[in-house]
Amino acid sequence: MSTALAFDIYGTLIDPHGVVTELQQQVGDAAAEFSRVWREKQLEYTWRRSLMQRYRNFGVCTRQALDYTDRLLQTELNDSVKDSLMQAYRTLPAYDDVPASLELLKNAGHRLYPFSNGTVDMVSAVLEHAGIDHFFEEVISVDGLQTFKPDPEVYRHVIKVTDVDPGSCWLVSSNGFDVIGAVSAGMKAAWLKRFDGVVFDPWDIDPTLVIRKLGELPHQIGS
Ligand code: 2OP
Repeated sequence: MSTALAFDIYGTLIDPHGVVTELQQQVGDAAAEFSRVWREKQLEYTWRRSLMQRYRNFGVCTRQALDYTDRLLQTELNDSVKDSLMQAYRTLPAYDDVPASLELLKNAGHRLYPFSNGTVDMVSAVLEHAGIDHFFEEVISVDGLQTFKPDPEVYRHVIKVTDVDPGSCWLVSSNGFDVIGAVSAGMKAAWLKRFDGVVFDPWDIDPTLVIRKLGELPHQIGS
């Protein structure tokens, strides 16, 4: 029976901090800190909007997090710079190990899906720009459900769309909150520990497996 692998996008396949180069031209040495706060705030806004049932799409959360970061760090970016940073978000790079690992998994007969908080439009644009869109079946976005990860509804949606037994339906993500959400909702989940020093949340809900590089996944999942 074929296995469905649903890949988280930002932080797992696509580097959200790829925008640092563009940021350096605008905020100089504050670029790395700006990128970190922007990303953290973006995710916080998704969680708060889900809890409050005040859904606005991931693009809006990203733009509002950008406005917040600009205020916090007093960088005084004008609208045209902010528009250009939002545009840069659509052309973020894939991590180096991504194309070869996706190719191995696809050749092993697995069905691969992008699964993201991002809208279909945002995710399609970034995958196409990174040159990896051809590995995937349809984009699975939370947008149609008007809620965000880790609402259990979004993981049940993945199981439904991929139409496989839940035991054959995997999330692959470097975001711990995403992995815990998937396992809690009945999926299997591989936690990609991309960086040293990153720790997994001690919630007594563990990843099905832990990998250090995406290239380990084909051997771990098998065919
Ligand atoms: C994604 O859904 C959570 O950023 C993450 O792509």
